Amino acid sequence: MKQVANKRLLEAFWMPFTANRYFKANPHLYMLSSAKGMYYFTEDGRKILDATSGLWCSSLGHCHPKITDAICKQANTLDYAPTFQMGHPKAFEFADRIIEDLVPKSSQLKHVFFTSSGSSAVDSALKICLAYHYAKGEGNRSRFVGRELGYHGVGFGGISVGGLGMNRKAYTSAMFAADHLPHTLNISQNAFTRGMPPSGGAELAESLLNLITLHSADNIAAVIVEPVAGSAGVIIPPVGYLKRLREICTQHNLLLIFDEVITGVGRLGTGFGAEFFDVEPDVITCAKGLTNGAVPCGAVLVRGDIYDTVTSSSGGSGRSSIELFHGYTYSGHPLAMAAGLATLDVLKEEDVLSNVKRISPNWEDGLHSLRNCSPLIKDIRNIGLMGAITFESIPNDLGQRAYTFQTNCLKNGLLVRVSGESIAMSPPLIANEQEIGQIIEILSNVLSQLK
Ligand SMILES: Cc1ncc(COP(=O)(O)O)c(C=O)c1O
Repeated sequence: MKQVANKRLLEAFWMPFTANRYFKANPHLYMLSSAKGMYYFTEDGRKILDATSGLWCSSLGHCHPKITDAICKQANTLDYAPTFQMGHPKAFEFADRIIEDLVPKSSQLKHVFFTSSGSSAVDSALKICLAYHYAKGEGNRSRFVGRELGYHGVGFGGISVGGLGMNRKAYTSAMFAADHLPHTLNISQNAFTRGMPPSGGAELAESLLNLITLHSADNIAAVIVEPVAGSAGVIIPPVGYLKRLREICTQHNLLLIFDEVITGVGRLGTGFGAEFFDVEPDVITCAKGLTNGAVPCGAVLVRGDIYDTVTSSSGGSGRSSIELFHGYTYSGHPLAMAAGLATLDVLKEEDVLSNVKRISPNWEDGLHSLRNCSPLIKDIRNIGLMGAITFESIPNDLGQRAYTFQTNCLKNGLLVRVSGESIAMSPPLIANEQEIGQIIEILSNVLSQLK
Protein backbone atom coordinates (compact mmCIF):
# COMPACT_ATOMS: atom_id res chain seq x y z
CA MET A 1 0.00 0.00 0.00
CA LYS A 2 1.78 3.11 -1.28
CA GLN A 3 0.41 5.53 1.29
CA VAL A 4 1.00 3.19 4.19
CA ALA A 5 4.54 2.23 3.18
CA ASN A 6 5.49 5.84 3.68
CA LYS A 7 5.20 6.15 7.47
CA ARG A 8 6.31 9.80 7.37
CA LEU A 9 3.15 10.67 5.44
CA LEU A 10 1.01 9.43 8.32
CA GLU A 11 2.41 11.83 10.87
CA ALA A 12 0.74 15.17 10.12
CA PHE A 13 -2.90 14.06 10.33
CA TRP A 14 -4.03 14.12 13.99
CA MET A 15 -6.77 11.53 13.75
CA PRO A 16 -10.04 12.13 15.64
CA PHE A 17 -11.20 9.71 18.37
CA THR A 18 -8.23 7.48 17.48
CA ALA A 19 -5.26 5.91 19.22
CA ASN A 20 -2.92 7.81 16.88
CA ARG A 21 0.30 6.08 17.93
CA TYR A 22 -1.22 2.62 17.52
CA PHE A 23 -2.79 3.43 14.15
CA LYS A 24 0.37 4.97 12.72
CA ALA A 25 2.40 1.96 13.82
CA ASN A 26 -0.16 -0.52 12.42
CA PRO A 27 -1.99 1.19 9.55
CA HIS A 28 -2.29 -1.66 7.05
CA LEU A 29 -5.41 -3.35 8.30
CA TYR A 30 -7.35 -0.14 8.86
CA MET A 31 -6.66 1.94 5.73
CA LEU A 32 -9.60 2.20 3.32
CA SER A 33 -9.12 3.38 -0.24
CA SER A 34 -12.43 3.12 -2.08
CA ALA A 35 -16.03 2.09 -1.58
CA LYS A 36 -19.06 0.95 -3.54
CA GLY A 37 -22.49 -0.03 -2.28
CA MET A 38 -22.21 -2.21 0.83
CA TYR A 39 -18.41 -2.56 0.61
CA TYR A 40 -15.14 -0.82 1.35
CA PHE A 41 -11.96 -1.77 -0.52
CA THR A 42 -8.34 -1.51 0.56
CA GLU A 43 -5.33 -0.85 -1.65
CA ASP A 44 -4.06 -4.36 -1.00
CA GLY A 45 -7.28 -5.71 -2.52
CA ARG A 46 -9.35 -6.66 0.52
CA LYS A 47 -13.14 -6.28 0.29
CA ILE A 48 -14.83 -5.30 3.54
CA LEU A 49 -18.57 -5.58 4.14
CA ASP A 50 -19.65 -2.36 5.84
CA ALA A 51 -21.91 -3.23 8.78
CA THR A 52 -21.70 0.32 10.17
CA SER A 53 -22.70 2.45 7.15
CA GLY A 54 -19.35 4.20 7.53
CA LEU A 55 -20.01 5.99 10.81
CA TRP A 56 -23.79 5.51 10.87
CA CYS A 57 -24.04 7.75 7.83
CA SER A 58 -23.69 6.05 4.40
CA SER A 59 -27.16 4.55 4.70
CA LEU A 60 -27.89 4.14 1.00
CA GLY A 61 -24.58 2.47 0.25
CA HIS A 62 -21.33 4.10 -0.79
CA CYS A 63 -20.91 6.17 -3.94
CA HIS A 64 -24.57 5.91 -4.89
CA PRO A 65 -24.51 7.11 -8.53
CA LYS A 66 -27.51 9.43 -8.11
CA ILE A 67 -25.94 11.17 -5.14
CA THR A 68 -22.47 11.33 -6.67
CA ASP A 69 -23.88 12.75 -9.92
CA ALA A 70 -25.91 15.36 -8.05
CA ILE A 71 -22.82 16.51 -6.14
CA CYS A 72 -20.69 16.72 -9.29
CA LYS A 73 -23.37 18.61 -11.17
CA GLN A 74 -23.81 21.05 -8.30
CA ALA A 75 -20.06 21.59 -7.96
CA ASN A 76 -20.00 22.67 -11.60
CA THR A 77 -23.03 24.95 -11.25
CA LEU A 78 -22.90 26.73 -7.89
CA ASP A 79 -20.02 25.57 -5.72
CA TYR A 80 -20.73 27.88 -2.82
CA ALA A 81 -23.25 30.56 -1.93
CA PRO A 82 -23.71 32.38 1.37
CA THR A 83 -26.99 31.95 3.21
CA PHE A 84 -26.52 35.00 5.45
CA GLN A 85 -28.87 37.61 3.95
CA MET A 86 -28.53 35.80 0.61
CA GLY A 87 -30.01 32.54 -0.62
CA HIS A 88 -29.96 29.84 -3.26
CA PRO A 89 -32.92 27.71 -4.34
CA LYS A 90 -31.64 24.29 -3.28
CA ALA A 91 -31.43 25.27 0.41
CA PHE A 92 -35.12 26.21 0.39
CA GLU A 93 -36.00 23.14 -1.64
CA PHE A 94 -34.13 20.74 0.66
CA ALA A 95 -35.62 22.24 3.83
CA ASP A 96 -39.09 21.91 2.30
CA ARG A 97 -38.43 18.31 1.22
CA ILE A 98 -37.16 17.33 4.69
CA ILE A 99 -40.47 18.44 6.17
CA GLU A 100 -42.49 16.93 3.29
CA ASP A 101 -40.69 13.59 3.04
CA LEU A 102 -39.45 12.79 6.52
CA VAL A 103 -42.03 14.24 8.92
CA PRO A 104 -45.67 13.09 9.24
CA LYS A 105 -48.26 15.53 7.88
CA SER A 106 -49.74 15.96 11.36
CA SER A 107 -46.41 17.06 12.86
CA GLN A 108 -45.86 20.56 14.24
CA LEU A 109 -42.23 20.46 13.06
CA LYS A 110 -42.25 22.94 10.19
CA HIS A 111 -38.86 24.66 9.84
CA VAL A 112 -35.28 23.58 9.24
CA PHE A 113 -32.05 25.32 10.30
CA PHE A 114 -28.99 23.96 8.46
CA THR A 115 -25.64 23.36 10.11
CA SER A 116 -22.41 21.67 9.08
CA SER A 117 -22.46 18.55 11.30
CA GLY A 118 -24.30 16.73 14.06
CA SER A 119 -22.35 18.56 16.76
CA SER A 120 -23.20 21.94 15.29
CA ALA A 121 -26.85 20.84 14.94
CA VAL A 122 -26.94 20.06 18.66
CA ASP A 123 -25.33 23.34 19.69
CA SER A 124 -27.69 25.19 17.34
CA ALA A 125 -30.69 23.40 18.85
CA LEU A 126 -29.64 24.38 22.38
CA LYS A 127 -29.22 28.00 21.29
CA ILE A 128 -32.57 28.02 19.49
CA CYS A 129 -34.25 26.80 22.70
CA LEU A 130 -32.61 29.59 24.69
CA ALA A 131 -33.52 32.16 22.01
CA TYR A 132 -37.13 30.95 22.06
CA HIS A 133 -37.49 31.33 25.83
CA TYR A 134 -35.71 34.68 25.70
CA ALA A 135 -38.08 35.91 23.00
CA LYS A 136 -41.00 34.93 25.23
CA GLY A 137 -39.57 36.95 28.09
CA GLU A 138 -38.48 33.80 29.93
CA GLY A 139 -34.73 34.24 29.71
CA ASN A 140 -34.33 32.62 33.13
CA ARG A 141 -35.12 29.26 31.47
CA SER A 142 -31.48 28.52 30.84
CA ARG A 143 -30.68 25.08 32.29
CA PHE A 144 -30.46 21.96 30.15
CA VAL A 145 -31.09 18.35 31.05
CA GLY A 146 -29.28 15.56 29.18
CA ARG A 147 -28.87 11.90 30.06
CA GLU A 148 -26.07 9.66 31.29
CA LEU A 149 -24.36 7.85 28.39
CA GLY A 150 -25.87 10.33 25.92
CA TYR A 151 -23.73 11.46 22.99
CA HIS A 152 -24.51 14.82 21.47
CA GLY A 153 -21.33 15.52 19.57
CA VAL A 154 -18.25 17.39 20.63
CA GLY A 155 -19.18 21.07 20.84
CA PHE A 156 -19.13 22.58 24.32
CA GLY A 157 -22.92 22.49 24.38
CA GLY A 158 -22.99 18.89 23.24
CA ILE A 159 -20.46 17.65 25.79
CA SER A 160 -22.17 19.60 28.58
CA VAL A 161 -25.49 17.79 28.01
CA GLY A 162 -23.69 14.60 26.92
CA GLY A 163 -23.16 11.79 29.34
CA LEU A 164 -20.02 9.96 28.25
CA GLY A 165 -17.33 10.62 30.85
CA MET A 166 -14.35 10.16 28.53
CA ASN A 167 -15.65 12.90 26.23
CA ARG A 168 -15.98 15.33 29.13
CA LYS A 169 -13.21 14.82 31.60
CA ALA A 170 -10.46 16.98 30.07
CA TYR A 171 -12.87 19.80 29.33
CA THR A 172 -14.95 20.18 32.49
CA SER A 173 -13.69 23.68 33.24
CA ALA A 174 -15.15 25.00 29.98
CA MET A 175 -18.49 23.14 30.03
CA PHE A 176 -21.73 24.60 31.36
CA ALA A 177 -23.49 22.93 34.26
CA ALA A 178 -26.21 20.60 33.02
CA ASP A 179 -28.18 17.88 34.75
CA HIS A 180 -28.39 14.30 33.56
CA LEU A 181 -31.22 11.81 33.74
CA PRO A 182 -30.20 8.24 34.54
CA HIS A 183 -29.47 6.09 31.50
CA THR A 184 -31.83 3.24 30.64
CA LEU A 185 -29.39 0.40 29.99
CA ASN A 186 -30.21 -2.39 32.42
CA ILE A 187 -28.49 -5.54 31.18
CA SER A 188 -29.12 -7.56 34.33
CA GLN A 189 -32.86 -7.11 33.83
CA ASN A 190 -33.20 -6.83 30.05
CA ALA A 191 -30.39 -8.91 28.52
CA PHE A 192 -31.19 -10.34 25.06
CA THR A 193 -34.38 -8.32 24.67
CA ARG A 194 -35.60 -8.01 21.09
CA GLY A 195 -36.53 -4.39 20.42
CA MET A 196 -37.79 -2.24 23.28
CA PRO A 197 -37.48 -3.63 26.82
CA PRO A 198 -41.17 -4.29 27.57
CA SER A 199 -41.20 -3.44 31.25
CA GLY A 200 -39.04 -1.82 33.83
CA GLY A 201 -37.36 1.43 32.89
CA ALA A 202 -40.20 3.80 31.99
CA GLU A 203 -40.12 4.98 35.61
CA LEU A 204 -36.60 6.33 34.98
CA ALA A 205 -38.28 9.24 33.21
CA GLU A 206 -39.74 10.26 36.58
CA SER A 207 -36.34 11.48 37.71
CA LEU A 208 -37.00 14.51 35.51
CA LEU A 209 -39.57 15.47 38.15
CA ASN A 210 -36.80 15.47 40.78
CA LEU A 211 -34.78 17.91 38.66
CA ILE A 212 -37.84 20.08 38.23
CA THR A 213 -38.30 20.10 42.02
CA LEU A 214 -34.61 20.93 42.46
CA HIS A 215 -34.34 23.78 39.95
CA SER A 216 -37.97 24.77 39.36
CA ALA A 217 -39.35 24.27 35.85
CA ASP A 218 -39.13 27.95 35.04
CA ASN A 219 -35.33 27.75 35.17
CA ILE A 220 -35.11 24.83 32.71
CA ALA A 221 -34.92 25.42 28.95
CA ALA A 222 -35.01 21.91 27.49
CA VAL A 223 -34.39 18.21 27.83
CA ILE A 224 -32.26 16.50 25.18
CA VAL A 225 -32.07 12.74 24.58
CA GLU A 226 -31.28 10.39 21.73
CA PRO A 227 -34.43 8.28 21.20
CA VAL A 228 -32.03 5.33 20.88
CA ALA A 229 -28.58 6.13 22.28
CA GLY A 230 -26.24 5.11 19.47
CA SER A 231 -22.65 5.89 20.38
CA ALA A 232 -22.94 4.39 23.87
CA GLY A 233 -23.79 1.04 22.26
CA VAL A 234 -27.39 1.07 21.02
CA ILE A 235 -29.37 1.68 24.20
CA ILE A 236 -33.03 1.15 23.40
CA PRO A 237 -35.69 3.04 25.36
CA PRO A 238 -37.97 0.92 27.53
CA VAL A 239 -41.63 0.86 26.51
CA GLY A 240 -43.35 4.02 27.78
CA TYR A 241 -40.14 5.90 28.66
CA LEU A 242 -40.14 8.47 25.83
CA LYS A 243 -43.89 9.05 26.14
CA ARG A 244 -43.48 9.77 29.85
CA LEU A 245 -40.63 12.23 29.17
CA ARG A 246 -42.91 13.97 26.67
CA GLU A 247 -45.74 14.19 29.20
CA ILE A 248 -43.54 15.71 31.89
CA CYS A 249 -42.00 18.22 29.47
CA THR A 250 -45.44 19.27 28.25
CA GLN A 251 -46.80 19.63 31.79
CA HIS A 252 -43.90 21.88 32.77
CA ASN A 253 -43.38 23.77 29.49
CA LEU A 254 -39.91 22.31 28.91
CA LEU A 255 -38.84 21.87 25.32
CA LEU A 256 -38.01 18.31 24.33
CA ILE A 257 -35.15 17.79 21.85
CA PHE A 258 -34.65 14.43 20.16
CA ASP A 259 -31.10 14.10 18.92
CA GLU A 260 -31.72 11.96 15.84
CA VAL A 261 -28.29 12.23 14.26
CA ILE A 262 -28.29 8.41 14.18
CA THR A 263 -31.97 7.45 14.36
CA GLY A 264 -33.07 9.99 11.73
CA VAL A 265 -33.54 9.47 7.99
CA GLY A 266 -34.75 5.91 7.97
CA ARG A 267 -32.61 3.98 10.45
CA LEU A 268 -35.77 2.67 12.18
CA GLY A 269 -37.86 2.42 9.01
CA THR A 270 -39.49 5.83 9.53
CA GLY A 271 -38.41 9.36 8.59
CA PHE A 272 -37.38 9.94 12.20
CA GLY A 273 -37.39 7.91 15.41
CA ALA A 274 -40.07 10.30 16.69
CA GLU A 275 -42.55 8.70 14.31
CA PHE A 276 -41.36 5.19 15.14
CA PHE A 277 -41.88 5.78 18.87
CA ASP A 278 -45.00 7.90 18.27
CA VAL A 279 -43.65 10.73 20.41
CA GLU A 280 -43.35 14.22 18.95
CA PRO A 281 -40.48 16.32 20.28
CA ASP A 282 -40.36 20.13 19.89
CA VAL A 283 -36.98 20.02 18.18
CA ILE A 284 -35.09 17.34 16.23
CA THR A 285 -31.40 17.39 15.38
CA CYS A 286 -30.09 15.28 12.49
CA ALA A 287 -27.04 14.91 10.23
CA LYS A 288 -25.13 11.87 8.87
CA GLY A 289 -27.66 9.99 6.69
CA LEU A 290 -29.29 13.28 5.68
CA THR A 291 -26.75 13.51 2.84
CA ASN A 292 -25.81 9.83 2.92
CA GLY A 293 -22.58 10.96 4.55
CA ALA A 294 -21.33 12.18 1.18
CA VAL A 295 -21.14 15.88 2.11
CA PRO A 296 -21.08 17.13 5.72
CA CYS A 297 -24.45 18.57 6.75
CA GLY A 298 -26.60 18.83 9.84
CA ALA A 299 -30.08 20.18 10.45
CA VAL A 300 -32.35 21.31 13.27
CA LEU A 301 -36.09 20.84 12.79
CA VAL A 302 -38.27 23.07 14.94
CA ARG A 303 -41.94 23.46 15.74
CA GLY A 304 -43.76 26.19 13.83
CA ASP A 305 -44.41 28.34 16.89
CA ILE A 306 -40.74 28.24 17.95
CA TYR A 307 -39.78 29.70 14.58
CA ASP A 308 -42.65 32.21 14.72
CA THR A 309 -41.76 33.34 18.24
CA VAL A 310 -38.08 33.86 17.48
CA THR A 311 -38.60 35.46 14.06
CA SER A 312 -41.18 37.92 15.34
CA SER A 313 -38.95 38.98 18.24
CA SER A 314 -36.58 41.37 16.50
CA GLY A 315 -38.95 44.29 16.60
CA GLY A 316 -38.95 45.03 12.87
CA SER A 317 -39.14 43.43 9.46
CA GLY A 318 -36.44 45.40 7.64
CA ARG A 319 -33.25 43.93 6.22
CA SER A 320 -31.31 44.77 9.36
CA SER A 321 -33.78 43.05 11.70
CA ILE A 322 -31.88 39.78 12.05
CA GLU A 323 -33.82 37.53 14.41
CA LEU A 324 -31.35 34.80 15.37
CA PHE A 325 -27.70 35.74 15.69
CA HIS A 326 -26.44 32.32 14.77
CA GLY A 327 -25.37 30.40 11.68
CA TYR A 328 -22.44 28.78 9.89
CA THR A 329 -20.54 29.68 6.72
CA TYR A 330 -21.61 26.24 5.48
CA SER A 331 -25.28 26.37 6.59
CA GLY A 332 -27.15 25.24 3.49
CA HIS A 333 -23.95 24.54 1.51
CA PRO A 334 -24.95 23.92 -2.13
CA LEU A 335 -23.13 20.56 -2.36
CA ALA A 336 -24.79 19.35 0.84
CA MET A 337 -28.19 20.48 -0.41
CA ALA A 338 -27.68 18.68 -3.72
CA ALA A 339 -26.52 15.51 -1.92
CA GLY A 340 -29.46 15.75 0.49
CA LEU A 341 -32.06 16.20 -2.25
CA ALA A 342 -30.61 13.21 -4.11
CA THR A 343 -30.65 11.20 -0.87
CA LEU A 344 -34.35 11.93 -0.40
CA ASP A 345 -35.00 11.01 -4.04
CA VAL A 346 -33.24 7.66 -3.59
CA LEU A 347 -35.09 6.99 -0.33
CA LYS A 348 -38.35 7.38 -2.24
CA GLU A 349 -37.44 5.78 -5.59
CA GLU A 350 -35.88 2.69 -4.01
CA ASP A 351 -38.57 2.49 -1.31
CA VAL A 352 -35.82 2.26 1.28
CA LEU A 353 -38.03 2.70 4.35
CA SER A 354 -40.06 -0.35 3.31
CA ASN A 355 -36.83 -2.29 2.93
CA VAL A 356 -35.82 -1.37 6.48
CA LYS A 357 -39.19 -2.57 7.81
CA ARG A 358 -38.95 -5.75 5.75
CA ILE A 359 -35.33 -6.60 6.60
CA SER A 360 -35.29 -5.61 10.31
CA PRO A 361 -36.83 -8.94 11.48
CA ASN A 362 -34.03 -10.83 9.60
CA TRP A 363 -31.49 -8.59 11.30
CA GLU A 364 -33.09 -9.24 14.69
CA ASP A 365 -33.27 -13.02 14.18
CA GLY A 366 -29.73 -13.15 12.85
CA LEU A 367 -28.25 -11.16 15.72
CA HIS A 368 -30.06 -13.13 18.42
CA SER A 369 -29.05 -16.42 16.77
CA LEU A 370 -25.48 -15.52 17.85
CA ARG A 371 -26.29 -15.75 21.55
CA ASN A 372 -24.71 -19.15 22.08
CA CYS A 373 -21.64 -18.56 19.93
CA SER A 374 -19.61 -17.62 23.00
CA PRO A 375 -20.09 -17.67 26.79
CA LEU A 376 -18.47 -14.22 26.80
CA ILE A 377 -21.55 -12.61 25.23
CA LYS A 378 -23.37 -10.66 27.92
CA ASP A 379 -26.13 -9.05 25.87
CA ILE A 380 -27.50 -8.63 22.36
CA ARG A 381 -29.83 -5.71 21.55
CA ASN A 382 -31.49 -4.51 18.36
CA ILE A 383 -34.01 -2.08 16.95
CA GLY A 384 -34.64 -1.12 13.32
CA LEU A 385 -31.34 -1.57 11.52
CA MET A 386 -29.25 -0.98 14.64
CA GLY A 387 -27.79 -3.61 16.90
CA ALA A 388 -25.13 -4.27 19.51
CA ILE A 389 -23.38 -7.16 21.20
CA THR A 390 -21.93 -6.58 24.68
CA PHE A 391 -19.06 -8.72 25.95
CA GLU A 392 -18.03 -9.64 29.47
CA SER A 393 -15.20 -7.26 30.37
CA ILE A 394 -11.62 -8.29 30.90
CA PRO A 395 -10.75 -7.05 34.41
CA ASN A 396 -8.43 -4.01 34.31
CA ASP A 397 -8.57 -3.94 30.52
CA LEU A 398 -11.82 -2.24 29.68
CA GLY A 399 -12.82 -2.33 26.03
CA GLN A 400 -9.93 -4.56 24.99
CA ARG A 401 -12.12 -7.53 24.09
CA ALA A 402 -14.29 -5.38 21.81
CA TYR A 403 -11.24 -3.89 20.05
CA THR A 404 -9.74 -7.32 19.47
CA PHE A 405 -13.09 -8.52 18.18
CA GLN A 406 -13.32 -5.59 15.79
CA THR A 407 -9.83 -6.25 14.43
CA ASN A 408 -10.68 -9.92 13.93
CA CYS A 409 -13.87 -8.94 12.10
CA LEU A 410 -11.79 -6.72 9.79
CA LYS A 411 -9.42 -9.62 9.11
CA ASN A 412 -12.52 -11.58 8.11
CA GLY A 413 -13.83 -8.80 5.87
CA LEU A 414 -16.38 -7.07 8.11
CA LEU A 415 -16.46 -3.55 9.55
CA VAL A 416 -18.15 -3.14 12.94
CA ARG A 417 -17.79 -0.36 15.51
CA VAL A 418 -16.45 -0.49 19.06
CA SER A 419 -18.37 1.17 21.83
CA GLY A 420 -16.94 0.45 25.28
CA GLU A 421 -17.49 -3.25 25.97
CA SER A 422 -19.87 -3.52 23.02
CA ILE A 423 -19.69 -3.62 19.29
CA ALA A 424 -22.35 -1.56 17.57
CA MET A 425 -23.68 -2.09 14.07
CA SER A 426 -25.86 -0.15 11.66
CA PRO A 427 -25.90 -1.85 8.25
CA PRO A 428 -26.83 0.24 5.22
CA LEU A 429 -30.60 0.59 4.89
CA ILE A 430 -30.42 -1.01 1.43
CA ALA A 431 -29.12 -4.33 2.80
CA ASN A 432 -30.85 -7.48 1.53
CA GLU A 433 -31.31 -10.89 3.20
CA GLN A 434 -28.12 -12.24 1.71
CA GLU A 435 -26.00 -9.35 2.93
CA ILE A 436 -27.53 -9.52 6.42
CA GLY A 437 -26.83 -13.27 6.36
CA GLN A 438 -23.21 -12.58 5.38
CA ILE A 439 -22.77 -10.15 8.31
CA ILE A 440 -24.20 -12.71 10.72
CA GLU A 441 -22.02 -15.49 9.32
CA ILE A 442 -18.81 -13.50 9.78
CA LEU A 443 -19.89 -12.41 13.28
CA SER A 444 -20.62 -16.03 14.14
CA ASN A 445 -17.19 -17.18 12.96
CA VAL A 446 -15.35 -14.45 14.83
CA LEU A 447 -17.48 -14.87 17.97
CA SER A 448 -16.71 -18.56 18.14
CA GLN A 449 -12.99 -17.66 18.48
CA LEU A 450 -13.67 -14.99 21.15
CA LYS A 451 -11.27 -15.10 24.08
C1 LIG B 1 -26.67 11.41 18.53
C2 LIG B 1 -25.50 12.16 17.98
N1 LIG B 1 -25.47 13.49 18.08
C3 LIG B 1 -24.47 14.22 17.58
C4 LIG B 1 -23.43 13.61 16.93
C5 LIG B 1 -22.29 14.43 16.38
O1 LIG B 1 -22.28 14.43 15.01
P1 LIG B 1 -20.97 14.92 14.21
O2 LIG B 1 -19.91 13.90 14.45
O3 LIG B 1 -21.43 15.03 12.79
O4 LIG B 1 -20.60 16.26 14.77
C6 LIG B 1 -23.42 12.22 16.78
C7 LIG B 1 -22.31 11.54 16.10
O5 LIG B 1 -22.16 10.34 16.14
C8 LIG B 1 -24.48 11.47 17.33
O6 LIG B 1 -24.50 10.13 17.25
